[in-house]
Amino acid sequence: MTWTLHHGDALLILPTLNTPIDAVIADPPYNSGGRTMTERTSRTAREKYLTNDGRHHGHDLGDFTGENRDQRAYGYWLSLLLAECFRLTRPGGAALVFTDWRQLPATTDALQAGGWTWRGIAVWHKPTARPQPGRMRQDCEFIVWGSNGAMIPGNDPVYLPGHFTGSQPRGSQRQHITQKPEDVMRQLVRIVPEDGTVLDPFAGSGTTGAAALRGGRNFIGIEQSAHYAETARTRLRAITPALT
Ligand SMILES: C[S@@+](CC[C@H](N)C(=O)[O-])C[C@H]1O[C@@H](n2cnc3c(N)ncnc32)[C@H](O)[C@@H]1O
Repeated sequence: MTWTLHHGDALLILPTLNTPIDAVIADPPYNSGGRTMTERTSRTAREKYLTNDGRHHGHDLGDFTGENRDQRAYGYWLSLLLAECFRLTRPGGAALVFTDWRQLPATTDALQAGGWTWRGIAVWHKPTARPQPGRMRQDCEFIVWGSNGAMIPGNDPVYLPGHFTGSQPRGSQRQHITQKPEDVMRQLVRIVPEDGTVLDPFAGSGTTGAAALRGGRNFIGIEQSAHYAETARTRLRAITPALT
């Protein structure tokens, strides 16, 4: 299996790529969180998503930028991004885009504005989310998904669930503020045939890449933060040497 990890802004790097890909699995900065517009647009990722300022079981989790767009600008930005991913994806290939409940409408709009045929919404269930008195528990995030035109049934079709359960890694396994469970990603990369290529324009700590490589798929990642680009490279190198 091969992988590359580009360091930089996905919006600037994607237009320079020409390798055809089979699916994009994107976990963008949600530009969400908080009860008011001020809370959503004025706080850093660490302030939004952690209660202990990034210190987690003795680790300092790195902050990241790109979290302060208002909802209209987020939809516009994500549309541009997904249009670039669409250009790289072979006909019939898939886009799987993570989001939360606040940004769900903006994300389904952006997917379609980017050229994709919207196919559905899958659920990521987080069993350890804390209960809140008098309220429904916020224990789900969502995977908005679509395809580049008609989906092409393969000779060996997969049957993926529409509901995935998994908790964010803890302790020494936790390397990123908004890290996704590798087990969930292992299931998602199955949307790509073996030996196919997965693109993640927001690689973070490299969870999608680790899942792709362990599942027999190639990986192309982009990450804006130098800290997390190196975290992802270290993680992927431990699985297999880099292509470049
Ligand atoms: C939600 S996190 C991804 C976490 C990842 N799925 C994991 O499990 O570690 C989003 C990542 O996107 C990166 N990012 C934000 N804006 C970006 C941009 N314009 N281009 C590339 N990466 C960006 C952030 O630095 C952050 O690491």
